[in-house]
Amino acid sequence: MMAQGGCRKIVFMWSFDYGQTPPAQPAPPGPPAEPPMPSYQKQRLLIKGGRVVNDDQSVEADVYVEEGVVQEVGPNLNPRPPSGLTVLDATNKLVIPGGIDTHTHLQFPFMGTTSKDDFYTGTKAAVAGGTTMIIDFAIPQKGCSLIEAFDTWKSWADPKVCCDYALHVAVTWWSDEVKEEMKTLVDVKGVNSFKMFMAYKDLYMLSDEELYSAFSYCKELGTIAQVHAENGELIAQNAKKLLAMGITGPEGHALSHSEDVEAEATHRAIAIANTVNCPLFVVHVMSKSSARMITNARNEGKVVYGEPIAAGLGIDGTNYWNEDWAHAAAHVMSPPLSPDPSTPDFLMNLLANDDLSVVGTDNCTFDTCQKALGKDDFTKIPNGLNGVEDRMSVVWEKGVYSGKMDENRFVAVTSTNAAKIFNLYPKKGRIAVGSDADIVIWDPEATRTISAKTHHQANNFNVFEGMVCHGVPVTTISRGKVVYHDGDFNVTAGQGKYVSRPPFPPYVYERVKQRQEVCKPVPVKREPYAGVVSATPESE
Ligand code: URP
Ligand code: ZN
Ligand code: ZN
Repeated sequence: MMAQGGCRKIVFMWSFDYGQTPPAQPAPPGPPAEPPMPSYQKQRLLIKGGRVVNDDQSVEADVYVEEGVVQEVGPNLNPRPPSGLTVLDATNKLVIPGGIDTHTHLQFPFMGTTSKDDFYTGTKAAVAGGTTMIIDFAIPQKGCSLIEAFDTWKSWADPKVCCDYALHVAVTWWSDEVKEEMKTLVDVKGVNSFKMFMAYKDLYMLSDEELYSAFSYCKELGTIAQVHAENGELIAQNAKKLLAMGITGPEGHALSHSEDVEAEATHRAIAIANTVNCPLFVVHVMSKSSARMITNARNEGKVVYGEPIAAGLGIDGTNYWNEDWAHAAAHVMSPPLSPDPSTPDFLMNLLANDDLSVVGTDNCTFDTCQKALGKDDFTKIPNGLNGVEDRMSVVWEKGVYSGKMDENRFVAVTSTNAAKIFNLYPKKGRIAVGSDADIVIWDPEATRTISAKTHHQANNFNVFEGMVCHGVPVTTISRGKVVYHDGDFNVTAGQGKYVSRPPFPPYVYERVKQRQEVCKPVPVKREPYAGVVSATPESE
């Protein structure tokens, strides 16, 4: 169909990939120094008649995209030549920056199995939900190389990703070698965030001394220290006691990971990070107490960010007491969903008010058979649940539709703040001239009902089953390519790119540097003591 000016209205002339298995092997690396530009980058797009929403303002404007980059934003654009232009009608819709999910674990080898969504199904589901970038975690075993872990995860991701991605790297042990590798990861591999675990005793957990060293070095490198804040020692003791009492089911997971366990570790992490003036990013904030610790720290001016996850904002931990074992086990993750049903609302209020900063998912899916590894012992149930596909809709429903936040705050917490904290901004997280064309056409009026029967994730269970969400992504564009439209995909395994993140993100480090200067302790100037020095008290 021809539209005004000879432009084509949206037409899907490519061949669709309906989710067949991605190629088992990546294509062999091509010899030419300058690989030919993938054809999708040449696609010229005009998004017409929508309302462009950034974190700071909304404007009625068209968006013109060429070579995978936003070229123009403004009213009534009429790019020349009209031929070869694909026009996307965004009338009555919002045009928003693609979502950034700051926390995924795709094909993660963990707790005796591997998470079900790999870098193909996970990123394909992501784009269906309006997310155009994920940040996953490369996690070495204790004593193993961080660089090797990074290279391994990257070799898994590169041939499969359907959208852009980056990698946080976990510091699971401490030595001079680890320090050297962290530096290389920053200087050569484009890593600017490291995750430290205070839980998973004997597997990933660090001592306070190691946390102190790791946070100090993160600060020196200009990176973000991320922390899984739970007291691993307390969890181990609690679990032993509960198992001895005959509590073997998923409720034991929630009871052993009590709210105190998360709050204590959050407080400790903030104290250690603040002592060395290191910016801290608390991942998967699940409880009121932990969120309050972060709120208090921010009120005191500390450089701390909190990341609630879609599941923690959308559902609660009463599910652990469900009489269907598989249902209860499907919700097992650490820290657990809060058993207090008012927690999701509480966390959403803090997110709306900037006490919490970004929404991740901790997407780490295991099917029922995998969960059943812990059928007789809750400590063996693989930890993790879904979210990468539904994050944006859950936040819209519980945050915007509920009246807690506006469309600009929605963009801030689903995309822009992540881009700023992890130094991707304004390439990512903004619709502006020069930004990557990672864009979503969002219908705020449409609704959809979440279900494992219709989702695009590999898992057989969806923790949001039956939730009706206002706010539906109609079209998702990744680097200028329409990858999803109205239920249809146009993705190719491996089309996403690894995105390097330089250190010293100004959004974070301008304050850190200033605090370094003004908070520096200085000695009190006084006259030297001139009296007697003696170890023996003076006699009367
Ligand atoms: O339950 C969780 N969170 N699984 C993934 C590993 C982690 O701690 O993030
Ligand atoms: Zn974690
Ligand atoms: Zn995680």
